[in-house]
Amino acid sequence: MGEPPRHLLTIEGLAPPAIAHLLDLAESYVLLNRSGRTERDMLRGRTLINLFFEDSTRTRTSFELAGKRLGADVINMSVAASSVNKGETLLDTAATLNAMQCDLLVVRHAQSGAPSLLAQKVDAAVINAGDGTHEHPTQALLDALTIRRHKGDFAGLVVAICGDVAHSRVARSNIHLLVTVGATVRVVGPPTLIPAAIAGLGVTVFHDMKAGLAGADVVMMLRLQKERMARGLVPSAREYFRFWGLDAEKFAHAKPDALVMHPGPMNRGVEIDSALADDPAHSVIREQVEMGVAVRMAVLDTLARSRALSRNV
Ligand code: CP
Repeated sequence: MGEPPRHLLTIEGLAPPAIAHLLDLAESYVLLNRSGRTERDMLRGRTLINLFFEDSTRTRTSFELAGKRLGADVINMSVAASSVNKGETLLDTAATLNAMQCDLLVVRHAQSGAPSLLAQKVDAAVINAGDGTHEHPTQALLDALTIRRHKGDFAGLVVAICGDVAHSRVARSNIHLLVTVGATVRVVGPPTLIPAAIAGLGVTVFHDMKAGLAGADVVMMLRLQKERMARGLVPSAREYFRFWGLDAEKFAHAKPDALVMHPGPMNRGVEIDSALADDPAHSVIREQVEMGVAVRMAVLDTLARSRALSRNV
């Protein structure tokens, strides 16, 4: 697998063997989680700090659970109640946490590139838990694990990533991962929400849902991120759903055994119809959440081992 990684900042640049290693390790943690056993010696004595400058339900909680299942001391920093509110900078906050001998720093920030900047300044292993519109590496890994469990090999799979691609770090990380492992990736959405440069990442662009979903093995819906839109890029929620929301009629164009995915949180009735989101025959949305714990255990395990090797402990 080459040099063990010190941080997990992006999927871009991860080679297929590194991706396969993380997915295989995560698979072993799925089984461990389901058995009710833990691996408390794995991260015993290590400290994991969750530093989230943006809201989160799934990512923060699953990193906490993953850390605890492996025996780490886990601290969730409440940014709202921290000295960030007194004007402390991101770098000073990170340096303060680093001085407390933090081993693993999980960071979510509205600014693209913030975790990379921190990784240059702190001794801890830094994990990007979502930075602006840039990347969300562990989301792409858990999505890949979910797809692999249902579809096996990625080669030849057609994955349609639909909706607000422009503001989606989930889309960018998924595109990098899926293209790297040999899937055919389509992005589908209105021109206002598909950046012109996206085709340069090896995807095909569609501005029509039925054409974009035709023959797809996986339909991955994205949240409409109104909070990141400086101006109105979409019509009303009702109009958006009519043209771009996933409903039974549009989904009928995908393969009969296609998967429905969504990273959450979902806007039901905006980007996805409730009936499809909850359809056990196709929807793997809950399973994505379960895979999130296993993937984060694999990432923490891998980075902690790499850190131990580099420090000779
Ligand atoms: N998918 C995802 O990142 O969800 P949260 O914002 O709840 O962490």
